[in-house]
Amino acid sequence: MSVLVIGGAGYIGSHTVRLLMQEGYDVWVYDNLIAGHRAAVPEGCLIEGELADHLRLSQIMKEREVTSVVHFAAFASVGESVEHPAKYYQNNVVASHSLLTAMLAAEVREIVFSSTTATYGIPQAVPIREVETQRPINPYGFTKLVIEQMLRDYQHAYGLRYAALRYFNAAGASADGSIGEDHRPESHLIPIVLQVALGQRESVTIFGDDYPTPDGTCIRDYVHVDDLATAHLAAMRTLHAADGDGMQRVEVNLGTGKGHSVNEVVEACRRISGHAIPSVKGARRAGDPPELVADPSLAKQQLGWEPRYVDLDEIVETAWRWHRDHPQGYGQA
Ligand code: UFG
Repeated sequence: MSVLVIGGAGYIGSHTVRLLMQEGYDVWVYDNLIAGHRAAVPEGCLIEGELADHLRLSQIMKEREVTSVVHFAAFASVGESVEHPAKYYQNNVVASHSLLTAMLAAEVREIVFSSTTATYGIPQAVPIREVETQRPINPYGFTKLVIEQMLRDYQHAYGLRYAALRYFNAAGASADGSIGEDHRPESHLIPIVLQVALGQRESVTIFGDDYPTPDGTCIRDYVHVDDLATAHLAAMRTLHAADGDGMQRVEVNLGTGKGHSVNEVVEACRRISGHAIPSVKGARRAGDPPELVADPSLAKQQLGWEPRYVDLDEIVETAWRWHRDHPQGYGQA
């Protein structure tokens, strides 16, 4: 099988690319390197380009006899999406439409898509099941929901098979510490806390300690990036096996089912790094739901997927190894 990974030079994409290669797939990465890193993918597989260029994309799919697409390319910062929704609708929705246009033209009928817990907004019940109503509370979540809806409609009308994988909080780095998380600017909790441990920041600000949670800080479900990679592989295989009358659409949560508060994450980072990591109390960050924890049982049932990393310390340990050994991430931009 020949797989085209859109946005494969990014954080979750690069870990998935590595796994697909280990499993023997022919892998091509299509990335504009705005958020991705050249050094995150093996030499020779990277094609630089824009999603808007659907004619070129369909040409690439035909030439390389692509059978499946895995689509990671998106802007994914909630706060920024509130300030610059146009950027998000353009880059996420319009660009994904262009990708689907290219797929139909090249007769590629399988796509695994990065969706998000942000499509649920503030859930009625936690842990969150897929029957939860999707009511996003920010433009980022809306863009992902629109793409999910496009996939449903394309499945119905054009027979496109798809998996929408709703990630909870991606975390950690490859076990050998060679690839990891490098967002610029960084906004995610674990990298920020570990940058304090490295002396790159003075302290971490805790965004709100008056939430209705046991210690007052937000609870999230941190899922290891290599476990997310495994889920993409499982989803791709499930869709491919479905060629004919099997599974045409998959919409599942990817999390561990365990929640950790911001304070617990900071504590884990202190334990693992051996640094004091000063923290200061700050105001709530707009758009943060108090608690997001997955019920991952449908992913287990439909994909046979279960996370290998269920212990927060183990997840943080892999992240720490990456940040400690690569204090500048992938280096100069
Ligand atoms: N946090 C802090 N201080 C920081 C950074 C984060 O207290 O400096 C807190 C946040 O308020 C939140 C938790 O740490 O409670 C986790 O924040 P992240 O920014 O690491 O992750 P989010 O939960 O905001 O974001 C994730 C995904 C998004 C997705 C979102 C859905 O990264 O793509 O979940 O809510 F949209």
